[in-house]
Amino acid sequence: MATPVMLDLRAEAAAAALALDRAALNELERGAAIGTWRGRMVNEHISARVFAGMIPQMMAAGVPASCTAEVADMIAEELRHGVLCAAVVHALGGDATAELPPLPAVPLHADAEPLEALLRNVLSIACLSETVAVALIGAERELAGPPVLQSTLATILADEVGHARFGWRLLETLGPRLTPDLRARLGDYLVAAFRHLREHELAHLPPRPAPSALAESYGVCDGDEARVLFFETVRSVIIPGLEAHGIPAERAWAASQR
Ligand SMILES: [Fe+2]
Ligand SMILES: [Fe+2]
Repeated sequence: MATPVMLDLRAEAAAAALALDRAALNELERGAAIGTWRGRMVNEHISARVFAGMIPQMMAAGVPASCTAEVADMIAEELRHGVLCAAVVHALGGDATAELPPLPAVPLHADAEPLEALLRNVLSIACLSETVAVALIGAERELAGPPVLQSTLATILADEVGHARFGWRLLETLGPRLTPDLRARLGDYLVAAFRHLREHELAHLPPRPAPSALAESYGVCDGDEARVLFFETVRSVIIPGLEAHGIPAERAWAASQR
């Protein structure tokens, strides 16, 4: 068994010194809020590596250097989101430390040409995961009560919007290089990508309500509502968006459920 790797953001979290009234919460609500924000802290921190993995792929695929530079900024943004979430954990009276889960390598897709390999990751990361993140975090921000939580979620949301838009824009930019065959093969790839997205999101959204409306205003999401929003985002944003780029997403989503 490998030694567990700890993420320790206690110093950064304490330095942020967020002013948050945690006395309003009972122990159950506070525990749920700490668990939620600690989970977010880990997810944000480790998502930095996904963008880092894309940099060599972007170079190999010969995309404009400005696009690669944008992704390099996203690495720092995700790490910063981790610290923002850690600051909330600390303000709630929790320890901003957590064991990191196993970190699967970002797929290289060595079976495909560099452009196609890159596009598979852009679809999965930006057009799928980040687009879902925008919807979920947007809803959480609307429900947030304490002003520091509103502003924390607003900061994260603004960056996630940039991450999602980056993917959709890159499809636009690279449009002239996307042959009909390549678009069809990306549709084939999407079957597995959609399946992975659904499994990943549902694992993070347990089908149970928040312990209370107050807990919800401190960031504990209602899992049932979040699941509905997830499926709505796939159906009304992601599938039509990909179809508009000639990528057969409708069929892929259906196939991913079989
Ligand atoms: Fe993020
Ligand atoms: Fe992101």
